[in-house]
Amino acid sequence: MKVGDRWYRTIWPSEDGGAVEVIDQTRLPHAFEVVRLQSLEAAAEAIRVMQVRGAPLVGATAAYGLCLALQEDSSDQALQHGVELLAATRPTAVNLRWALGEVVAAVGPLPAAERVAAAWRVAARICDDDVAACRSIGEHGLELLRGLARDKGDRALNVLTHCNAGWLATVDWGTALAPVYLAHDAGMNVHVWVDETRPRNQGAALTAFELGAHGVPHTLIADNVGGHLMQHGMVDLCLVGSDRTTSRGDVANKIGTYLKALAAHDNKVPFYVALPSTTIDWEIADGIEEIPIEERSPAEVIRVAGRTKEGIDSSVEIAPPGCAAANFAFDVTPARLVSGLLTERGVCEASTVGLRHLFPERAVVISGVH
Ligand code: MRU
Repeated sequence: MKVGDRWYRTIWPSEDGGAVEVIDQTRLPHAFEVVRLQSLEAAAEAIRVMQVRGAPLVGATAAYGLCLALQEDSSDQALQHGVELLAATRPTAVNLRWALGEVVAAVGPLPAAERVAAAWRVAARICDDDVAACRSIGEHGLELLRGLARDKGDRALNVLTHCNAGWLATVDWGTALAPVYLAHDAGMNVHVWVDETRPRNQGAALTAFELGAHGVPHTLIADNVGGHLMQHGMVDLCLVGSDRTTSRGDVANKIGTYLKALAAHDNKVPFYVALPSTTIDWEIADGIEEIPIEERSPAEVIRVAGRTKEGIDSSVEIAPPGCAAANFAFDVTPARLVSGLLTERGVCEASTVGLRHLFPERAVVISGVH
């Protein structure tokens, strides 16, 4: 997507080779800075501290992390060490494990001398495929938005989103926001309610930044506002991303998503989840029991970061000294609360049957029978 007059992806190999560059998302929205990752450890740290985040981008960064590892040492042991280090950074987003698997499958059978070049090719392919998948999600989602806008006349179609599932969370375009960008570009009157998304405020810092840069009308709201808006007919559609979707359509996404789904269900507001198929974990069905939920530092709940009026980056404590805090980073929305899954192959019911219909080649894994 465009930032200023330049088109950016969120991750790319450096022009001089041998390194990877990413947009440092911990600096947004106040500063747009590019960071150079030159080692496996730097890539793992970038994922851990969330300089890069969002399930598809975490996967792409992990793939490049293995390229950087193999550049240092292309042995089996180094590959295994890289996989273990990267896999441990963030447990919920399944794209991480998937991307590591793609690189290992491609380079594992090769002699050491051929591994580095092959790994860079796989990482580039993962990025290109993610861009294509997200663009396709956008096109299918545009039809969904057009359908919902049909009865609205001149009035705006109000979309509520949670966290950041825009281009910053992927390699480009985004998942939940891809249809919004295409709708806006097509001249549709679309407006986005942006949940601030405590504790790290990805909605306020990233989604508002993205939508603002693209000129999409949006309004930032505190996390608890969505239910009120839905009761008053001010939301036409909830559209969120996913970090892991199970084979029966349960969805793990940023903490607070489940509460939005409950409110949407109670108010008969459509609740759609947008995801590339790399976010589907075909090996599990019950999201509540089987998806590992990342727990992050309590400090993220106790402190709030921002920029002072004087332009100084700072953080302040918002709780009494010594207050205990818990920081569950994701929750699971059961499939029964999801109106549909929006994928690169189109929209399907959030169910085993729905997913099997769109991805028939995965029936083997789903049923384990044929
Ligand atoms: O903790 P984050 O910022 O990585 O969480 C991101 C989300 O929850 C997104 O909604 C999700 O990754 C979907 S990405 C297109």
